[in-house]
Amino acid sequence: MVAPLLKLNDVSKSFAGSNALSEISLEVKPGEVLCLLGDNGAGKSTLIKVLSGVHKPTSGTIEVDGQQRVFESPKDAGDLGIATVHQYGGTFPLMSVARCFFVGEEPTKGVWPFHYFDKKTAGLITVQEMQKLGITRVTDGSRLVGSLSGGERQTLAIARAVYFGARVLILDEPTSALGVKQATHVLKIIMQARAQGIAVVFVTHNVMHAMAVGDQFAVLIHGEKADEFRKGERTREQITDLMAGGEAMAALEAELASLTGPVRLP
Ligand SMILES: Nc1ncnc2c1ncn2[C@@H]1O[C@H](COP(=O)(O)OP(=O)(O)OP(=O)(O)O)[C@@H](O)[C@H]1O
Ligand SMILES: [Mg+2]
Repeated sequence: MVAPLLKLNDVSKSFAGSNALSEISLEVKPGEVLCLLGDNGAGKSTLIKVLSGVHKPTSGTIEVDGQQRVFESPKDAGDLGIATVHQYGGTFPLMSVARCFFVGEEPTKGVWPFHYFDKKTAGLITVQEMQKLGITRVTDGSRLVGSLSGGERQTLAIARAVYFGARVLILDEPTSALGVKQATHVLKIIMQARAQGIAVVFVTHNVMHAMAVGDQFAVLIHGEKADEFRKGERTREQITDLMAGGEAMAALEAELASLTGPVRLP
């Protein structure tokens, strides 16, 4: 048995008295992809923020390598190799690609106090690391992040996490704003990270995307863990119906059809 890298024990989080998460226990192992599924407002991002040190749990504990830890800030989680690409933001549109890649880890040249950001080296490394993940159209580190496509931006954030030695890579909805080709590309990068022994936590609404890469799955409903299973133990329909709150999607579709009536073409 491989020991979990990251473990949550009965974690709850409430905001002003209302429970966003109730007693969630989960574990993530090296070389495995854990998919977190759930509808809007289910608590996925809140859970990610607890895992990455943005929020402190109201109750419950976090273990890293079998040792209980309290994250006072995202830096505490980062120092233990937990890298997070958050749902919104994370990259800076008006920053150069290289600057963004090295935020907080800038390579410097010269002797203190005359050191400065080494743009050339940073640019070369950034372009090279993006190329390793299949992005070949970004050849200049001074390009602005805002000029990258959604998939290229996601790749930049993931490349950065992998380069700086992430052991746990947490991705909150990395594919939801992407087209088919770019989403496939991000899924491929997830598999690459997995093959390197990184533990991946992949948050998504998209059951197809989850099933393509996941080893372990957890479904959140109203902040509670409604189901948990391993690859191959559920069908796509079962997962979709569960995410929709236990209502069969086929019944909803039938109801929709009765509201709109048959569509007549001119
Ligand atoms: N900082 C906050 N203060 C108050 N309530 C919050 C805060 N963050 C989240 N919530 C509430 O907690 C619940 C869970 O939100 P969360 O963002 O975790 O959902 P989610 O599963 O990520 O949804 P989505 O799929 O839309 O991204 C929601 O009801 C939300 O309004
Ligand atoms: Mg979210």
